[in-house]
Amino acid sequence: MDQAFEEVKQKEDLYQLNTYKKLPLSIERGEGVYVYDSTGKPYLDLYGGHAVALTGHCHPSVVKAVKEQLGKLIFYSNVVYSSVRARASEALIKVAPSGMDKVFFCNSGAEANETAMKISRKYAGKKKIIAMKDGFHGRTAGALSATGLGNYRKQFSPLLEDYIFVEFGNVEAFKNTLNDDVGSVILEPIQSMAGVEIAEEDYYKHLREICSERGIVLIFDEVQTGLGRTGSWFFGDRLGINPDIITLAKGIGAGIPVGCVIIDEKISKTIGPGEHGSTFGGGPVASSAILANISVIKEENLVQNAWDVGEFIKQELRDVNLVRRVKGRGLLLGIEIETDAIRLRDFLLERGIITGTSSKNNVLRLLPPLILKIEEAEIFIKELKAFE
Ligand SMILES: Cc1ncc(COP(=O)(O)O)c(C=O)c1O
Repeated sequence: MDQAFEEVKQKEDLYQLNTYKKLPLSIERGEGVYVYDSTGKPYLDLYGGHAVALTGHCHPSVVKAVKEQLGKLIFYSNVVYSSVRARASEALIKVAPSGMDKVFFCNSGAEANETAMKISRKYAGKKKIIAMKDGFHGRTAGALSATGLGNYRKQFSPLLEDYIFVEFGNVEAFKNTLNDDVGSVILEPIQSMAGVEIAEEDYYKHLREICSERGIVLIFDEVQTGLGRTGSWFFGDRLGINPDIITLAKGIGAGIPVGCVIIDEKISKTIGPGEHGSTFGGGPVASSAILANISVIKEENLVQNAWDVGEFIKQELRDVNLVRRVKGRGLLLGIEIETDAIRLRDFLLERGIITGTSSKNNVLRLLPPLILKIEEAEIFIKELKAFE
């Protein structure tokens, strides 16, 4: 271990609340799909800085836009209008599914989910929320209450009442849970932390139908799947279905902290001034990042690239002995392997590739920037084969 890293590690461990299990490296610089540690060693970042670097690290267009904005105005809240916020809102609604007419900006995925559940409760006028076993929605009180995934809740109960958990992917279980008090349902369309679990296409369609019939608000937590990652702007696009509310965070600001809720017109029109807010939501710097980020995704055709490169990886891993199957869509992939994923992750890290794990100990997770090229995916495949 080099001296510079040792010093950084000691200081962080000394002063930071001990909530994260960190990889043994200090990332100091990033460019495209590569990041560099304190010794200057490059890493191919297939973890995307935690699913955040949608357009890669420090995309020149994003850097330029944010720098320009920093020189003009760092912050003013929603108490006034802002031209850059106006354009960022328009850009998001233009790529959103039809019928979704309003956006609310906040600062994180958890806050976006809190917002979604709050406004859906008002609209539905019913307090019960269905959430999925093994789902993950964040760590604040409401988001954690909706989180079914094992250990996150442990030690913190009782959490908020009124959440009912059902098995993800099981329409019958969902139907059997319904009662007159249920006003909304929240789910990750692909359960990422749970090991990149995706349901049958019909499941989403049935869910949509049932929710429409019964006036239940369907919330898709697209904090990981949104903005092109799964090969469509939003998960439902390829299936031809829209939820009523979509929550976003992670990649939307290219690394500038942003959360966001996109809302169907029938719900958005029920919310009025004073009923919700967030001081930093939609600030000028965040808005400039969103705007530049969305432009890059469009100009560089990254939605299609995410699909193509994801399909390529799936195809290439088909005959690799170590790999049992590859789950997920686009560039949100869970590689189920014959052995412990942490060992594989550490092996790859040694060879200069950052990957992720999940709550399943045999699933390696990939959440790379959507700019990932076939040649870069090939580097990963070659190194993965070397582990066999
Ligand atoms: C699907 C999903 N929802 C919500 C969150 C919470 O986001 P944040 O950490 O920005 O609060 C995450 C974070 O990993 C997530 O993956």
